[in-house]
Amino acid sequence: MGSVEIVRIGQATEDRLREISDLHRASIPSGFLTSLGQAALSAVYRAIIRSPHAFMLVALQDDRCVGFLAASLSTRRVQLDIMVTSWRQLAPAVLRQGVRPRVWLGIAELLTYTAKSRQRVATPAAEILNFCVDPLCRGAGIGGELLREMVREYARRGTREITIVTGAGQREAQRLYEREGARRVGEATVHDGSSSFVYVLTIAEDGSSQAHA
Ligand SMILES: CC(C)(COP(=O)(O)OP(=O)(O)OC[C@H]1O[C@@H](n2cnc3c(N)ncnc32)[C@H](O)[C@@H]1OP(=O)(O)O)[C@@H](O)C(=O)NCCC(=O)NCCS
Repeated sequence: MGSVEIVRIGQATEDRLREISDLHRASIPSGFLTSLGQAALSAVYRAIIRSPHAFMLVALQDDRCVGFLAASLSTRRVQLDIMVTSWRQLAPAVLRQGVRPRVWLGIAELLTYTAKSRQRVATPAAEILNFCVDPLCRGAGIGGELLREMVREYARRGTREITIVTGAGQREAQRLYEREGARRVGEATVHDGSSSFVYVLTIAEDGSSQAHA
């Protein structure tokens, strides 16, 4: 495998947004956002990339995006940014789905995600929004590189603690977070009633996570 570069992007071409959306669809095939289609997903990621309350890291190999990590400084504010800037793409995609319970559940989850995930425990506003690596490129250290660059970026912005919510079945992600020093602080019911684990990661001033401090 050729060398992989981790880059923070402040804007993205349509081709890059399509790559990011495709990675999202591959890692969350049955998710609500995935069900809205490529155009709506691209709009969501365009909003995240442009939001002053979020940042986006991509892993590039020969200019191909093989992984990304989207992180918020405040998930509530990013949700608002997405709604304000992407409603033109999201509304028709939602309406095309018809009035099905799954659709309303998905919308409710988008709007209440943060509150629900924190119902049992108070957690920091900054949070990993999504994080995935191309299934064909996993196990080569790209996820770890993305996570460590995220920690450095949060440190540069003065953020000292972040929340990570991940599906109870995402064992690879959990091992990675725990290795970087994340503490499991609770459980939450998100994603269609399935269980998720809630972690808090403490970030040192010099940009190392607790595990390396
Ligand atoms: C979680 C995820 C992003 C990890 O990406 P990744 O690139 O495979 O991560 P890494 O390669 O850094 O680490 C994964 C494993 O490979 C190992 N590894 C790292 N570098 C390696 C190398 N050079 N050679 C062999 N193995 C290596 C790590 O030790 C780790 O092993 P372990 O989990 O058994 O301890 C990826 O599995 C994924 O996209 N999952 C689906 C989406 C998801 O769950 N996202 C998180 C939701 S919040």
